[in-house]
Amino acid sequence: MKRKPNKPRPEPWSQTGPTDPGGGAADPGGSAFGAGSEKQSGATANVSLENFVLTLGESQLGPVTVDLRTNAHILLGGVTGSGKTVLLKVLLRQAIDKGAKVYIADFKGGVDFKSWFRENCYMSYDMDTTLETLAEWENELDRRKTLLRDSNCSNIDEYNAMFTETKLHRWAFACDEIAMMLDKTGQSKEQKEKIDKASAVLSLLACQGRSFGLHLILATQRPDANVMPAQVRSNIDYRVCGRADSILSSIIIDSTAAAELIPKNAKGLFMLNDSSGRDTSATVFKSYILPDGAN
Ligand SMILES: Nc1ncnc2c1ncn2[C@@H]1O[C@H](COP(=O)(O)OP(=O)(O)OP(=O)(O)O)[C@@H](O)[C@H]1O
Ligand SMILES: [Mg+2]
Repeated sequence: MKRKPNKPRPEPWSQTGPTDPGGGAADPGGSAFGAGSEKQSGATANVSLENFVLTLGESQLGPVTVDLRTNAHILLGGVTGSGKTVLLKVLLRQAIDKGAKVYIADFKGGVDFKSWFRENCYMSYDMDTTLETLAEWENELDRRKTLLRDSNCSNIDEYNAMFTETKLHRWAFACDEIAMMLDKTGQSKEQKEKIDKASAVLSLLACQGRSFGLHLILATQRPDANVMPAQVRSNIDYRVCGRADSILSSIIIDSTAAAELIPKNAKGLFMLNDSSGRDTSATVFKSYILPDGAN
């Protein structure tokens, strides 16, 4: 894992003007991530300033957003080249600018995450380091359970409203291709045991992370049952699908709409299946991209 310095960060949507580095109080767990800002200075019209509402892109109906307080976890699916990594980085960038501590497991070696991400996130490129990360997450889940129980709070927002000097930061665990991390095909017995351990922690976080501000943002070309534990998939209620065949589209958004409505050569076009009750069934949106230098 690589630690990053706490320094003012440029806006994701413009290359001028750093964000306000103040505003977030220290995490009582002593997070090395540093204090993040809930405020964003000089933000453009595209970025939601509401607490932990992240903007994915725009459809003809307007900006497409996700509120991590209600949709705690996100699954991004689509075939190769559909734009998953670009969208993942857009989401993570905003989460970091809102003060989240972000971990990225990238079993493709980290080449898609250039210096900005490597300096501002915890990165892991192999199973052993990722298991260390997940052990830290498991401990943090337990720690937050105790903190919230002892203070009679039912979620992180209540806790942070009560303890303004010792706010808890939201954490996001991102994996750019979950199949590369969890596929047991052809693996040794020892490696399979490690994959089982990683799957178990991801399942725990998917089930219990929401109230404690612990979020999963997972991307994959292959979300089938062999690589994606059922408990993880069933607890991710905000799902986004890019270009896909009808099977992939059905697995991700429970309909074949992405296969039917997103053209075969499209990059950065996505459809949603969220649990907000909005009718997004026929809405294709274009994801945002980060400017050079914000990657
Ligand atoms: N919103 C967008 N607008 C324009 N181009 C885009 C957009 N999103 C992605 N692209 C283009 O599509 C290319 C592929 O995107 P990306 O690497 O995110 O795909 P992917 O789904 O992660 O593929 P893989 O599964 O192989 O990793 C990018 O290099 C970029 O050029
Ligand atoms: Mg990718």
